Amino acid sequence: MTQHKEEWGSKLGVILAVAGSAVGLGNFLRFPGQAAQNGGGAFLIPYFCALFLLGIPIGWAEWAMGRYGGKKGLHSAPMIMGAIGKSGLARYIGIIGVLIPLGVSTYYMFIETWTFGYFLKYLTGGIGIDPNASIEAQTAVANAFFDSFTGAGADGSLFHGDGLRTLLTWVVVFAINVYFVFRGLSKGIEKFVSFAMPVMAVCALVVLIRVLTLGTPDPNVPENNVINGLGFMWNPNYEKLGDFKTWLAAASQIFFSLSVGFGVIINYASYMKKDDDVALSGLTASATNELFEVGFGGMITLTAAVVFLGLSGTQVAVAGGTFKLGFATLPVVFAHMGWFGNIMGALWFLVLWLAAITSSLSMYQPAVAHLKEALDWSHGKATGFIAAIGTAGALLTLWYSAGGTFLNTMDFWVGTYLIFLLAMAQIIYFAWVFGIDRGWKEIHTGAAIQIPPFVKIIMKYVAPAYLLIVFIGFNIQSFASELKNATATVGARVGLATIVALILYLVVVTAMGEKRLRAAGVDLDDDKPAT
Ligand code: ALA
Repeated sequence: MTQHKEEWGSKLGVILAVAGSAVGLGNFLRFPGQAAQNGGGAFLIPYFCALFLLGIPIGWAEWAMGRYGGKKGLHSAPMIMGAIGKSGLARYIGIIGVLIPLGVSTYYMFIETWTFGYFLKYLTGGIGIDPNASIEAQTAVANAFFDSFTGAGADGSLFHGDGLRTLLTWVVVFAINVYFVFRGLSKGIEKFVSFAMPVMAVCALVVLIRVLTLGTPDPNVPENNVINGLGFMWNPNYEKLGDFKTWLAAASQIFFSLSVGFGVIINYASYMKKDDDVALSGLTASATNELFEVGFGGMITLTAAVVFLGLSGTQVAVAGGTFKLGFATLPVVFAHMGWFGNIMGALWFLVLWLAAITSSLSMYQPAVAHLKEALDWSHGKATGFIAAIGTAGALLTLWYSAGGTFLNTMDFWVGTYLIFLLAMAQIIYFAWVFGIDRGWKEIHTGAAIQIPPFVKIIMKYVAPAYLLIVFIGFNIQSFASELKNATATVGARVGLATIVALILYLVVVTAMGEKRLRAAGVDLDDDKPAT
């Protein structure tokens, strides 16, 4: 077997890369919307339950499985899961670990394109909102720009006229992604995140400080102030806790946001050295994600919106969807900040873009690793092939832009449903087949901290049971209606067909890989545990 020896340049590199994958649009766009729609402060109860009982423990399992696979020379989720689960079934379930990042990348790249486009727009004078017009008129301008830039008006509208600037922006953003993936793990991804993460933190801090020092900008409307803005997010509406949907939303948010059950960490951790710490690294990456999510994402977006639009205006904005809050509401807010507004706008969209690209880079790597491992392809050839798949996926997302039906279908089935499934498979195989005692030892090999023993019980019993309950509830509540949605429009049907095509592709490549690796004498069934 050809050895594709790759590893992280430093211990910090892998932590930054995982944190970079975790901190993304989920933190800055998805979280504020979810929190505001699901009970404000009350949402944080199921949110932190999901963080401590699912996100962090399953994250540790994923880090440990990845590093374990790496010791056997395995880097793709199917092969690593096959070894951990000691079965062909686990290997084919592991395919989901490539499908999720690759599938999510198709639409994630589209939103990443918006962030970059808005960033360029703010660098060159903003999006044309007149702060002296009425709030309704300003919101209308922001919405019109958003609709035109994202092709919301009609399918195919991004392929001519004004839409072409979105297409062109996508070409630039996609090329940057492919370039860094092509450069490889340590020279590409690690180098980029080592620069991007600190820049993102500083820019986000500047925007947060500005937002928290807005005070009461209009003395005629004293209730539109920072304290009420913070209150909008933090005041609990306990009624929502009785709603099963809130618990589902919180668990989905944790997985999506931490990139746990996503197929990324298992791949990234496989490039670690065999005694590198995973316990503290996993915790550090999760803590970094929470700082960006709760500290920056939530507090910037909702506070700024309430200060300028008031509680009712913000409620309307939140109900309009996650994207509108970041792309239409905040531009109105920036327009009220005078000359400083364009700088704030540029910083905000730079933060969004850096958050997005450090995540999207992590979505290609698992698919590239899978091809290299299964078919013995060179890094360049595998990157080129994945770039071709990425291009096809992006063109579909760009074409079926009206109403977001392609995007919504991919986001629900790949970016939510399959994440639950993979997370469940990972924790069950880790705790029950690999064995919790062996797994615990594996997590603590080279560990810089000792994890409290009760986490073992969480991993073996609580997390699988929690997930099972949430997953069953999820199916009862949403399966039928989502299936109906997924066949309701052409865009949605193309989304489903894309998922099926990707599954077929991954099954074939995995089967070829299994044959090749077995012929090369690789221990795919974990007959000889790695040391
Ligand atoms: N974890 C990434 C995000 O939150 C995918 O956007």
